[in-house]
Amino acid sequence: MDGKFISFEGGEGSGKSTQLKLLASAFEKSALPFISTREPGGSKGAEKIRSLLVSGDTDSWDSLTETLLFNAARADHLNKLVLPALKENKTVICDRFLDSTIVYQGIGKGLNEAYIKSLHHIIFGNFMPDLTIILDISPEKGLMRAGGRGDNENRFEKLDIEFHRKIRDGFLNIAKRESERCVVLDATQNLDILHKQIIETIAIRCGIKL
Ligand SMILES: Nc1ncnc2c1ncn2[C@@H]1O[C@H](COP(=O)(O)OP(=O)(O)OP(=O)(O)O)[C@@H](O)[C@H]1O
Ligand SMILES: [Mg+2]
Repeated sequence: MDGKFISFEGGEGSGKSTQLKLLASAFEKSALPFISTREPGGSKGAEKIRSLLVSGDTDSWDSLTETLLFNAARADHLNKLVLPALKENKTVICDRFLDSTIVYQGIGKGLNEAYIKSLHHIIFGNFMPDLTIILDISPEKGLMRAGGRGDNENRFEKLDIEFHRKIRDGFLNIAKRESERCVVLDATQNLDILHKQIIETIAIRCGIKL
């Protein structure tokens, strides 16, 4: 598999979608082959599963069912979109991936972390991002930003502040444990400064010069 798989992680309103858009423009300008995608979703079937996951009541799924739905969406997304693109030597930039499942359904909602990882391993083998950029922001600031957006994809946003603190710590702990894969950036910085840091990180870690 030749293309690089780069995931973006971080709590609600940390700026993942915003930075993905800026990064996609940089790829377009440089004429390097890439696709930009997101989880849950990214492919037709997975987008259908997304609608079950991101809206509605916070307690509409227990953590196990939720995790299985995320994995079902991931299987469709990887098989239909991500793996074929990587085989064609495209860079894949992706809004959220496995770390979000570990942090939200595991650390946040109490499903055993080892269980989530072994499920991933059974379904997807050793497939992991080559680089994960974690956008770090306090949940207070992040939720304020996300609330200003006015969409209805707020099933996770509606959980209490303690939940979102666990999410932030969870991402930071993954970054500490897996420092070869993960880079943490301060998401409170100005958009353009953060964008430049992302471009630099991708150059250093993946050898992709934009
Ligand atoms: N660096 C920044 N400084 C100030 N505002 C920002 C910054 N980055 C993003 N925003 C704003 O914050 C809001 C949330 O950003 P965005 O939707 O990109 O976050 P997200 O991480 O994708 O959130 P979610 O996890 O809910 O999808 C948007 O209104 C966006 O314009
Ligand atoms: Mg987003």
